[in-house]
Amino acid sequence: MRIRRTDGSDVLVIGGGIIGLVTAWRAAQRGLAVALADPEPGGGAARVAAGMLAAVTELHYGEETLLGLNLASAERFAAFTAELEEASGRDIGFRACGTLAVALDADDRAHLRELHELQRRSGLESEWLTGRECRRLEPMLAPGVRGGLRVDGDHQVDPRRLAAALLTACERAGVLFHRRRADRLSVVADRAAGAVLDDGTEVAAGQVVLAAGSLSGRLAGVPAHVLPPVRPVKGQVLRLTVPPAYAPFLSRTVRAVVRGSHIYLVPRENGELVVGATTEEMGWDTTVTAGGVYELLRDAHELVPGITELPLTETRAGLRPASPDNAPLLGRTALPGLHLATGHGRNGVLLTPVTGDAMASLLADGELPEAARPFSPGRFSPAPAPQEQPA
Ligand code: GLY
Repeated sequence: MRIRRTDGSDVLVIGGGIIGLVTAWRAAQRGLAVALADPEPGGGAARVAAGMLAAVTELHYGEETLLGLNLASAERFAAFTAELEEASGRDIGFRACGTLAVALDADDRAHLRELHELQRRSGLESEWLTGRECRRLEPMLAPGVRGGLRVDGDHQVDPRRLAAALLTACERAGVLFHRRRADRLSVVADRAAGAVLDDGTEVAAGQVVLAAGSLSGRLAGVPAHVLPPVRPVKGQVLRLTVPPAYAPFLSRTVRAVVRGSHIYLVPRENGELVVGATTEEMGWDTTVTAGGVYELLRDAHELVPGITELPLTETRAGLRPASPDNAPLLGRTALPGLHLATGHGRNGVLLTPVTGDAMASLLADGELPEAARPFSPGRFSPAPAPQEQPA
């Protein structure tokens, strides 16, 4: 294959999902010359994700450090939306609608009570409601709902529109797009120096950010001890449409754990209703299965029986980039010049604003902000490269 060299950029971002795009946009805003490699920027897991900003309702035991980052990002979302919409001229569908997490049986209720206790201990705002109070808020809920948690701070955004807006903002900020796959990291004198694309083009850069979602652990040329421990976790998601005659079908996100599986219904202002999601350790498989669709519809129907009247408009599966502790990997690696922004798991959409800010600080100032330091890749591998002068 003929090798073609491009002029060097300060930064090459590998991966054009929402995490790669926000990193590129924020770095370009800091005055860096940024290139991004992805055959289809704006694609990836955001094509499938529902877009819940669920810092409070997706709280889990043992994830208090991640909670801090999730809350920091949730707090930024309204201002981030305003800035991105201004920069791109596009609406990203941010909706401050709140969330209602409900219980259908005694086991679910006990689970929700525990979550409520954990939320209270963590200083989070949530209110316990009886089944009747839940139905007063959301009349389409099943009569069998036994109680629930009202969380007015867990909002939503439309991830597809978010990705499209980030793409436009990047273009307007001068990010150079290589619409090719990065095949191999280039390493020169023990330092990341760019990447070779699938057409043989060699893109040179002073710093490289690996932000390739669930594919981040597979890039050739990255030394084995530096490869991030990221694996794909499959999620199947449905999209339905609420005809105007049925609106408002739901006024906020409704979620539950039914027979151990998470189910959520996210109603958009434009009538789209997103129902998700399965959690499957199936490697790289993205098949939409009859069983996956059946289980989502069965559980959604138990929560909101009227859902079976709605047109089913789309079924899709995507891959969450999961890390061993469910938290992202942000920052420099043991290979000088190579940084990671990956492993966001269930929280990629929520963590978009804080990730962009953290990575731009690292790239422009040579330092991660305090809030992002616990998420350094060094927690899974040898010590990262020592601090360098910014580009
Ligand atoms: N955050 C929702 C999901 O990953 O399914």
